[in-house]
Amino acid sequence: EKSGFEHFMLKEIFEQPEAIKNSVRGRLIPESGLAVLGGLESVEQRLRQVKRIHIVACGTAFHAGLVGEYMLEEYAGIPVEVCIGSEFRYRKAVLDPKDDAVLVISQSGETADSLAAVREAKEKGVLTLGIVNVVGSTIAQETDAGVYTHAGPEIGVASTKVFVSQLAVLALFIIFLGRQRQMSVVVGKRIAEALLAIPKQVQSILEQDSVTKLIAQKYFKSKDVFFLGRKYNFPIALEGALKLKEISYIHAEGYASGELKHGPLAVIDELVPSVVVCPQDSVYEKNISNIEEIRARHGKIVAIATHGDEEIKQVADDVIYIPKTLEMLTPILSAIPLQLLSYHVALALGHDIDKPRNIAKTATVE
Ligand code: M6R
Repeated sequence: EKSGFEHFMLKEIFEQPEAIKNSVRGRLIPESGLAVLGGLESVEQRLRQVKRIHIVACGTAFHAGLVGEYMLEEYAGIPVEVCIGSEFRYRKAVLDPKDDAVLVISQSGETADSLAAVREAKEKGVLTLGIVNVVGSTIAQETDAGVYTHAGPEIGVASTKVFVSQLAVLALFIIFLGRQRQMSVVVGKRIAEALLAIPKQVQSILEQDSVTKLIAQKYFKSKDVFFLGRKYNFPIALEGALKLKEISYIHAEGYASGELKHGPLAVIDELVPSVVVCPQDSVYEKNISNIEEIRARHGKIVAIATHGDEEIKQVADDVIYIPKTLEMLTPILSAIPLQLLSYHVALALGHDIDKPRNIAKTATVE
């Protein structure tokens, strides 16, 4: 049921506050700064020994994995490698059964390339973990342990609510692993409290949908669009580009802002807009100088910025504001306007949003 929404994608975008609540419900003890993840209990001791994590996933789930890499390294001090499923299975990755764990992230739990990674890791005796949405799916069954996202069924081919749920579960996972290691109660509490505030913040972004719609109407005829971001929001730039190309068929590229000068800047002119994800975080100033580089080439800028940032208006043509949160959680908020932007662009172009051409919801074959 679309419950009055024009498309499943839009319905699922608007379900995100609820999806995140469901992902987090009953899994946090904020006053102790702890995460309680029943699905990991059986491997709790083994997880204490883990020295390296390989995150394997495809598409949008891969982008969630990239955010997880930044979170895990910063807060749990665990080295992480993130790999696309189709590469991992043929890469001959060096896996150590004593020190390593493989974490597979998947909405469907049936993606062939991600499942192959689970089987490859198991064959090598490595601990396998899953962050999966579909209960009882093959990946959920075949991994040693895991955490369900509990985002509810996702019908639209473009993944939206499950992506933010994956990020919320990764944050729980980081608290879980971090507190097993050097993370203090204070830091655990800070993340827990910020995570509990996220659903309301997402709701406030959804309420500004009309702003995003107007911006989409301004740019929907573009032939090429860049998405840029740094650190935690680099994966969100990749995700924004994937979302746009998947449903609008516009050529879009996601880049780390710092890579611009290494080639892509050559493409920028007045016809190629850039969506820059630049909340007021530890790399804000760096992003601003990248925006200046684009402006010098007459490129248009749509900025995703933090509420109260007036300075950004001087360098961006259009601004979409998101609330302030912990830097590691900004991707959950910054992803939302990019989903809405893609949706409204695809709508303006008259595409079949829930069933984009050439793509299936679940890639069960290679
Ligand atoms: O079911 P999975 O999460 O394993 O699927 C992975 C990708 O196929 C999926 O995220 C795909 O990229 C989405 N259609 C993107 O919106």
